[in-house]
Amino acid sequence: MKLGLNLIAAACEKGGIGVDGRLPWKLKSEMKFFSDMTTNTQDNTKQNVVLMGRRTWECIPQKHRPLQNRINMVLSSQDLDLGDAAIVCKSIPAAIEMISSGSLKGKVEKIWVIGGSSVYKTAMESPNFHRLYLTEIRKYFECDTFFPDIPNDFITVTDPDVPQGIQRENGIEFEYKVYQRDNNDL
Ligand SMILES: NC(=O)c1ccc[n+]([C@@H]2O[C@H](COP(=O)([O-])OP(=O)(O)OC[C@H]3O[C@@H](n4cnc5c(N)ncnc54)[C@H](OP(=O)(O)O)[C@@H]3O)[C@@H](O)[C@H]2O)c1
Repeated sequence: MKLGLNLIAAACEKGGIGVDGRLPWKLKSEMKFFSDMTTNTQDNTKQNVVLMGRRTWECIPQKHRPLQNRINMVLSSQDLDLGDAAIVCKSIPAAIEMISSGSLKGKVEKIWVIGGSSVYKTAMESPNFHRLYLTEIRKYFECDTFFPDIPNDFITVTDPDVPQGIQRENGIEFEYKVYQRDNNDL
């Protein structure tokens, strides 16, 4: 079976996802959703991978990285050494290859692509793309990093693990949306 790429992101009005190397908003319940979705597995002998760009890795506060109970993988063109904290990969196909062979083979339940911008774009164009879990925040925040355009052939689907309808926290409204490609065969 093909290992699918599940993308998870939160974007505000006009598609902003980050500013000055951080998230522009503070939404505890949304953060918990991210944490639960990327951590939980059906098989408790397996873990999920969180796959991210080098800048997203650097944006995670030191005390929170590596993201716990997940296998952290970082994309970079550089020869970085992140020790035991994270596995460094040169490309998304190289990461998938590493997950499906060698010491990680059979140990990974899901791959979660957690940003940033160009990583989301490459993952959505990949033949391994499975689903996009996008929290759509119904408020404008000043941003310098943006979610790429969602391809026209993406449709919204429901997932029993995802709360439906408008969510509210601190007066901010947001909605969890799930997209996949029409005729998705993964
Ligand atoms: N709202 C959200 O859901 C969300 C999620 C994630 C991040 N963010 C925000 O987004 C910002 C960071 O994202 P970003 O878009 O600036 O950077 P990013 O995508 O996290 O990192 C970019 C770097 O990742 C490496 N990279 C990316 N694609 C690669 C590929 N296909 N193969 C090999 N290496 C690759 C390159 O590293 P090298 O330069 O080392 O080669 C590149 O310079 C922060 O503000 C963060 O808070 C928001």
